[in-house]
Amino acid sequence: MNYLAPSILAADFCELGKEIEIVEKAGVPYLHIDIMDGMFVPSISFGMPVFACVRKCSNLFMDVHMMVEKPERYVEELIELGADGVTIHIEACDCIDETLKKIKKLGAKPGIAINPKTPVSEIIPYMELVDMVLVMTVQPGFGGQSFIVECLDKIREVRRIIDKSYPDVKLEIDGGVRLDNLEMNLEAGANVIVTGSAIFKGDIETNVKEFLKRM
Ligand code: DX5
Ligand code: ZN
Repeated sequence: MNYLAPSILAADFCELGKEIEIVEKAGVPYLHIDIMDGMFVPSISFGMPVFACVRKCSNLFMDVHMMVEKPERYVEELIELGADGVTIHIEACDCIDETLKKIKKLGAKPGIAINPKTPVSEIIPYMELVDMVLVMTVQPGFGGQSFIVECLDKIREVRRIIDKSYPDVKLEIDGGVRLDNLEMNLEAGANVIVTGSAIFKGDIETNVKEFLKRM
């Protein structure tokens, strides 16, 4: 099964509630929430007050992507606010093991993310602890960038590891995903597809339907 996860980073924040309602009604299963701290990545997106409002206006699975240094500081609060999945970057956390376990213990699904330059081998020690691996397909920090084609090999590599030993783990990709590269990503083995601009720019409902048709 494949899941579409629109990233609200590309939404019109003045119309956020309305735009979330459109994607939800159009049938997406996940909402991707990009939290950026201006340290791990150059930009700052939004934080807890915005996430709390988003949670209240939607029943979708809240897939929180922490592009934040020391994400362990926020796990508890996020889950209290209603995060369903919390994904932390391997490059941003010195206590990955502990943090993934904490996410699970608090009742959410733990995920581990790797940047385009981080080798896949680094996630292997944590595979037992995660519900999802996120392979970044752009340098994290901004929406609207171009997909890095070299990342396809990493997606395939993670897919092999999952299929061999962790069949329940999901494989999410994030960054530069559009209708014209969706198929090759699904073929490479991704099954949770994050997309921001390709959903929220233009007609949102049509965009969602076009994606869902091809998934
Ligand atoms: C990038 C974020 C992405 C971003 C994707 O750092 O993690 O989730 O919103 O946006 P698009 O699909 O426009 O590349
Ligand atoms: Zn993201």
